[in-house]
Amino acid sequence: MTTDITRPLSYGSYLRVPELLSIQSPKSVEAGREAHDELLFIIVHQAHELWFKQILHELSSVGKMFASNSVDEKMMGTAVSRLTRVTEIQKVLTDHLRILETMTPLDFLEFRDLVSPASGFQSVQFRILESTLGVRREHPLLANPESPFAKSLTADELKQMHSAESSPSLFELFEKWLERTPFIETNDGFTFWQEYQNALREHLSRDRDFINNHPLLPAEDKAKQLGEVEKTENYFRALFDETLHQQLVQQGVRRLSLRATHAALFINLYREEPILHLPFRLLTLLVDMDELLQQWRAQHAIMVHRMIGIRVGTGGSLGYAYLRATLDKTKVFADLFNLSTFLLPRSSLPSLPQNLKQRLGFVFQEIP
Ligand code: HEM
Repeated sequence: MTTDITRPLSYGSYLRVPELLSIQSPKSVEAGREAHDELLFIIVHQAHELWFKQILHELSSVGKMFASNSVDEKMMGTAVSRLTRVTEIQKVLTDHLRILETMTPLDFLEFRDLVSPASGFQSVQFRILESTLGVRREHPLLANPESPFAKSLTADELKQMHSAESSPSLFELFEKWLERTPFIETNDGFTFWQEYQNALREHLSRDRDFINNHPLLPAEDKAKQLGEVEKTENYFRALFDETLHQQLVQQGVRRLSLRATHAALFINLYREEPILHLPFRLLTLLVDMDELLQQWRAQHAIMVHRMIGIRVGTGGSLGYAYLRATLDKTKVFADLFNLSTFLLPRSSLPSLPQNLKQRLGFVFQEIP
């Protein structure tokens, strides 16, 4: 853009408003039969792309902070603020879909054929967002270079996508960061995991006693409930056993390494210790981002069902059925959600040795 030196910087020239407002080109207008709602359809998509750009800007800066082998503690606050910003944007995106839902399916039909075979499926920034987070996609349309999806991309878009796919995802970066958590084992003999197992055993044996001594519970129900305690114990076993854990990883049930899982659990259980506040907020934000992305996907799928019923999508997928199926498969931080299974009430938590507590707190020393 050339700068007009005779005028001071204005709102319009700084934000390039004329250009921005000139890039909505409804196909129905081009075809000489304007469909009123097509402008809304374009604007909601374009607004998404702008917000995707901002989200990627935030995520890439957080990725850089966590890419090195030791994360500067001072960066933690910045990372937490930036991820909080991402979650606020995600909430707005789901609301954008609601605005689009004021368009009726019949109004959509006025121009749907004109936008085919274009589809949100081809949104490069959305795919880069998925890769950046660490979503594992197995959809053939995405994997196959001969697919209509791959063919719809420009050389530059393909390059951007490959670069995102070959860089470490946030999942991988956060996993490495968790694995480096220094407090789980200390050289003073305290091993968090051993203590935790003991606390858990006690907790489960209390559950067992409660069931056995319950005066009103029929024998049949007692047996059932004791069976449930047994199941919980088995579920916990993989948390203490690398081989069992690896089997679950192979089956796709778990993804996070055992060491990283232990660290995440430790942070969750002892979040009140000052030094763990920010790591805890960070883990919470990862769960929030995943949840909000799932909410967007669910809202989008429901909207699609409402707009096109069970017809196939313009991008060549099964439409609603395809979108519903992506819901469970695309969670990135499912292991952090699953941690709730392993939480113990505060009253049963092993208390930390005094010197470890001191290291986890803020130490103030008087200058003599
Ligand atoms: C009337 C509104 C909409 C309809 C009927 C619709 C329909 C569809 C359909 C059927 C698909 C599956 C792929 C295909 O076969 O085309 C899809 C995917 C997708 N759409 Fe939409 N969509 C709408 C609005 C939006 C908006 C506003 C966005 C915002 C960017 C969006 C983004 C996406 C994305 C990112 C995918 C890929 C999802 C995935 O593969 O997990 N869509 N859409």
